[in-house]
Amino acid sequence: MNIMLFGAPGSGKGTQAKPIMEKYNIPQISTGDILRSAIAEKSPLGLEAKKVMDLGQLVSDDIIIGIIKERLKQDDCKKGFILDGFPRTIPQAEALEVIMKELGIKLDKVISLNVPDSAILERITGRRVCPNDGTSYHITFNQPKVEGKCDICGTELILRKDDNAETVVSRLEAYHKQTAPLFDFYKEKNILVEIDGMAGLEEVKNQIVRVLE
Ligand code: AP5
Repeated sequence: MNIMLFGAPGSGKGTQAKPIMEKYNIPQISTGDILRSAIAEKSPLGLEAKKVMDLGQLVSDDIIIGIIKERLKQDDCKKGFILDGFPRTIPQAEALEVIMKELGIKLDKVISLNVPDSAILERITGRRVCPNDGTSYHITFNQPKVEGKCDICGTELILRKDDNAETVVSRLEAYHKQTAPLFDFYKEKNILVEIDGMAGLEEVKNQIVRVLE
């Protein structure tokens, strides 16, 4: 099962990737998480990506395509995967087709989490993430059991550097200009399914499971 979660920043891709990953025992491939790990390691890729991510812009296609090409070749992807935050531009989507063709696989479903821009600011500024395992919480909509601590590993939750009102505007601009055209790209291929991303967390999850089953 090769799935892509598609949607605006803060639409719930990372949140929904976790239960799907556990239910189907397939890895989540989040380009955002890969880039954040590179930043934490202070690698040359991380230093380069940080400047762009802090501004809410997209990292170059060449860098991202290189990362995905290596990641999809790994053994744990053989039984399927969930793409989260990739592809984000038409050139990335075209490169993905080439990579998958080389690997003899295809994208089965693109799940679009439909959330209006008006809901995004509150979701993103209220998000708190675990720097250890990447789990997302929300100060109102998805509270951890113990305030400020990850339910899974107990690590202190943080506010992502790019989760501020100023950066959200640039991230939404980049989304509408560079990423939104992928909606029609995948609709034309008849693999896009729309989900009401404004429903509660559990209902969104159930909608996705129904699509996948
Ligand atoms: P990335 O990490 O991919 O960020 P993003 O796409 O902006 O997505 P988010 O992580 O912000 O949101 P999400 O949809 O996962 O939402 P979540 O589930 O956390 O990318 C970061 C940066 O890296 C980019 O800006 C770019 O610079 C770079 N980058 C990454 N990939 C790239 C690529 N392919 N090409 C180029 N550059 C790339 O949910 C958000 C909040 O809402 C949480 O608090 C959650 O608890 C809450 N929530 C979730 N669902 C619901 C619900 N149903 N109801 C109420 N609240 C909800």
